Amino acid sequence: MQTLSINGQDQVVDVPEDMPLLWVLRDVLGLTGTKYGCGIAQCGVCTVHLDGKAVRSCVLPVSNAVGHQITTIEAIGQTPVGQAVQSAWLAHEVVQCGYCQSGQIMAAVALLQTHPEADDQQIVNGMSGNMCRCATYTRIRAAIKSVSKA
Ligand code: FES
Ligand code: FES
Repeated sequence: MQTLSINGQDQVVDVPEDMPLLWVLRDVLGLTGTKYGCGIAQCGVCTVHLDGKAVRSCVLPVSNAVGHQITTIEAIGQTPVGQAVQSAWLAHEVVQCGYCQSGQIMAAVALLQTHPEADDQQIVNGMSGNMCRCATYTRIRAAIKSVSKA
C-alpha cells in the first residue's frame, strides 16, 4: 500500500512500488488529464508537479512520490498562477489537438512559479522538454509571456 497526496487529498493505492506514477494516476485513480506519450521522459505530456516542480510521471516510480505533494492538471487551476496560465491559454487560443497541452500547462506553471518574471530565453529553456506535434510553440510562448511580469 502506498499513500499519496494528490491535489490536496490523501489517496491509498495498492500497487507495486516501482509502478510509474502516470499509471497510478490514469489507470488506478482515473485522473486521465495527464497523458501518456513516449514513456521515456522525452516528450513532456505526462508532466505533473511534485512539490511544485515539474516531473515526468512516466518514469517516476510511485514510491518516490510518497511523502510529496503531487499536483495534476485537474487541480492546477486552483492556484493563482495555474488560473492565470489557463486563462492565457484561452485568450491566445493555444490549443490545437490538445494532446500535449496538459503537460505544457504544467510545465508553464512550474516555470512561472520559479521565474515569475521569465524572459523570452527563460521561457524557451523552461519549455524545451515539452513537445507539441501540432507545433503550437509560438502561441504557448506568447501565452506564458502574457503571464510573466517581465
Ligand atoms: S510520456 Fe512521459 S515524457 Fe513522454
Ligand atoms: S496541440 Fe496537438 S500535440 Fe500539441
